[in-house]
Amino acid sequence: MKLKKFFQVFVFAFLLLAAVSCCGSDTASLQPALKDAYKNDFLIGAALNDNVVNGNDPNAAEIVEKQFSAITAENVMKWQIIHPSPGDYNFAPADRFVEFGLKNKMFIVGHTLVWHHQTPLWIFKGEDGNDVDRETLLARMKDHIFTVMGRYKGKVNGWDVVNEALSDDGRLRRSKWLTIIGEDFIEKAFEFAHEADPDAELYYNDYSLENPGKCQGAVRIVKNLQAKSVRIDAVGCQGQAWRLDPGSPSRKDIQNFIDSFSALGVKCMFTEMCIDVLPEAFNNAGADIRANAQLRDELNPYVDGLPNKVQQQLAHRYAELFTIFRENSKKISRVTLWGVYDGTSWLNYWPVRGRTSYPLLFDRKYQPKPAFFTVMKTAQTKP
Ligand code: XIL
Repeated sequence: MKLKKFFQVFVFAFLLLAAVSCCGSDTASLQPALKDAYKNDFLIGAALNDNVVNGNDPNAAEIVEKQFSAITAENVMKWQIIHPSPGDYNFAPADRFVEFGLKNKMFIVGHTLVWHHQTPLWIFKGEDGNDVDRETLLARMKDHIFTVMGRYKGKVNGWDVVNEALSDDGRLRRSKWLTIIGEDFIEKAFEFAHEADPDAELYYNDYSLENPGKCQGAVRIVKNLQAKSVRIDAVGCQGQAWRLDPGSPSRKDIQNFIDSFSALGVKCMFTEMCIDVLPEAFNNAGADIRANAQLRDELNPYVDGLPNKVQQQLAHRYAELFTIFRENSKKISRVTLWGVYDGTSWLNYWPVRGRTSYPLLFDRKYQPKPAFFTVMKTAQTKP
């Protein structure tokens, strides 16, 4: 009898241990995955750097394979990298990125075709060193779009055709694209893109579109494309470096962004989400924290880890935002985080270099943060 009791206790303890280890926090056992929790709402994406797909960061790759249904190229499809000098295309990293997405049956987003950053200056210059004329620049734009989109035709599902064409006041940014080609550079880019891959979704993408003034600028872009019967499928509000404060941005402004575009019959996307918990640092943009002790103390307060209070605020803020997204899930096609885990977020080096930032759902040890669990819980709550 005693032996039987001992055996029962032993079996019970074994089962308990098995259950606990099974529900541990290693990412492989997180159930359900984010992409499954949100499958009836929208795609859940992450921006990937090359290390995630080239084998150098297998833990990050594992998180992506498990948790995300969409991927965006963080850098490898930008003009500077994929087409660094005339006629010289560097496709290997972009090929790896696309292969990774195909292998895992993910929705693949190409980022980006026409932008003013990470864009080499040769594009705008002739042999004499002066700006080229409109026709030459249009021909270069067309060649680039046809070559890049053509290579990934039928593989990349959607493209950020034009990125950040607006200034903060909602008027068109005075980039070389605008000053050399004129205002129709946007519709030309979309026309070329549609010709290059008629099945690909085409997007306009920008930051601060939650600001009503800038949002109106994007509304004008979409209306103009539609008036000319040029294809546009969705508008991406980057959601870059949103803050813990519930007013930055406010629910009202996010809702205004969503409603403005759904009224035009195009989808909304949040394409580059990351929440900045560090002090605002735009006055020190470009500075390197490691070389300046005073800045280090002021602008980089959480070198040794995120205090629990801030961790909880971050979790709460993520839940708040995903609650708004879920309430609008019929109007939103995708929410993408700008990175996989805190260690490789670009907020560690922008707008100030050398900071320790905590903007994502997975920490530096690849573990899910409290924010991961509140986002997950939000998916299971009735909107
Ligand atoms: C950022 C990348 O994350 C960095 O690695 C790179 O050094 C600079 O660009 N808006 C965009 C993205 O559309 O392409 C930018 O990505 C972040 C801001």
